[in-house]
Amino acid sequence: MDLQINSYQFGERPAVTKPDPEFYKQLGEEGIRKMVSRHYDLLRVSPIKHLFSNDDAEFEQSKQNSADFMIQICGGPDYFNQHKGKPMLVDRHAQFRIKPEGRIVWLNCYKQALLELDIPENLVLSFWNYINVFSAWMVNTPSTSFDVNTKL
Ligand code: HEM
Repeated sequence: MDLQINSYQFGERPAVTKPDPEFYKQLGEEGIRKMVSRHYDLLRVSPIKHLFSNDDAEFEQSKQNSADFMIQICGGPDYFNQHKGKPMLVDRHAQFRIKPEGRIVWLNCYKQALLELDIPENLVLSFWNYINVFSAWMVNTPSTSFDVNTKL
């Protein structure tokens, strides 16, 4: 399956399409919680692990909050709104330094978790397209890497 990462200009906020509701119907609440848990376990050993809590209880809470959101955006119950209020995810991510490279790591961890799912390819692609686009919104820190050809 060809899960490509789109590139965006820093600060761009491309239009987002929610995942196909069939994705939630196929995976169910438990399937989405498992997928998010897997994603977080991969993040915890990734080059952006410093962004996430070392404390096991806090880490479990993060998994729960993220799964609550994903269940909600995929068409399930609005657990995130019930527990945490309006998502306003750009604001919630503002306290973390998220660079374009961080987005790529975050998406690659999701790619691995998604490729382990046993559901039709078009549904995986529909969720991938959603996170691929929306993740660009969370990038709030420019990349620091440049070489001799970079125009400053
Ligand atoms: C661009 C790559 C991203 C990075 C590096 C990133 C990183 C983080 C970090 C460090 C946190 C705080 C710790 C935690 O509670 O897990 C967080 C929270 C969260 N992220 Fe992301 N994130 C990214 C993209 C996204 C996207 C695209 C979504 C939604 C589709 C999302 C949804 C959430 C949610 C729902 C929370 C919990 C917020 C809360 O509990 O208040 N993130 N993220």
